[in-house]
Amino acid sequence: MPETSPVTTLTLRKMKCDGQKISMLTSYDATFARLVDCAGVDIILVGDSLGMVMQGRANTLKVSVDDMAYHGACVSRAVERAHVVVDMPFMSYHVSTAEAVSNAGRLVQEGGAHAVKLEGGAERASVIAAITSAQIPVMGHIGLTPQSYHVQGGFKVQGRGDEASERLLADALAIQEAGAYSLVLEGIPKELATRISDALDIPTIGIGAGNGCDGQVLVVQDLLGMDERFKPRFVKRYAELGSTIRAAVGAFITDVRSGAFPDDAHSFHARRRRGPVRVASVEDGGAEGGYGPSESGGGPDLESEAGSDEPASA
Ligand code: KIV
Repeated sequence: MPETSPVTTLTLRKMKCDGQKISMLTSYDATFARLVDCAGVDIILVGDSLGMVMQGRANTLKVSVDDMAYHGACVSRAVERAHVVVDMPFMSYHVSTAEAVSNAGRLVQEGGAHAVKLEGGAERASVIAAITSAQIPVMGHIGLTPQSYHVQGGFKVQGRGDEASERLLADALAIQEAGAYSLVLEGIPKELATRISDALDIPTIGIGAGNGCDGQVLVVQDLLGMDERFKPRFVKRYAELGSTIRAAVGAFITDVRSGAFPDDAHSFHARRRRGPVRVASVEDGGAEGGYGPSESGGGPDLESEAGSDEPASA
């Protein structure tokens, strides 16, 4: 991990002041969160995009607070340095301010969030103020807001034209005024995103909003090319893991069918008897490294004597 001190809301504000760009990526599970954190990303977003990426839905509208708390907990357990933001899902902050504060609290207490993110402009100012005054930092999100899927007529670029861009600038200022500590700008012209970023004291994080923002966010599976069908203009692929994973899985299937896996190097072997027989117990060692049987703790069928016959890999 290149940098070790934990990233906080203060770190992010300072990064904006110092002109240092902020990196943010999504993660929804511990394996990805650990990798992304170790690589040195500043913010990990447990986005409600998990409705599409993890749950296979067409949009984010059915994601629940329970889903977000669960995935937040999976991620926050694995993270040591990055600032962890958990999305408030559709209808979790729309009905009443009290419900919004209580749902945000669940994401902190159960989901391990350092901050929550919610979508919408000036109409969300009072909810942002209430959650912030409950000591929970809020990241705003304007422009293309996926929870407005039906109102915006799908996933469409926003803020084109004078009136729409003035409205988004006013929304951004209202969100900052309400107490948000940062703001996602999604799917808007780069000129407008630059103008908003220059007008605000709080850092902006862009996605499909050009390079004038204070930081950038992508869905990690998009950056890694894991869904070969999904190629929107705003995504830059830094790897082609979709084809790499398919090839590796194909090789496994071929080996299983031919009997080439498992070979001797990936199998346990009975030890040759040299002294009195002793039945291995759980106290002798338990499972080594996870899911499979261990050499010493596997019960009567792995009963063995002293000697070394370690598996080639755990
Ligand atoms: O849910 C999400 O992943 C997001 C980002 C794409 C900004 O909101």
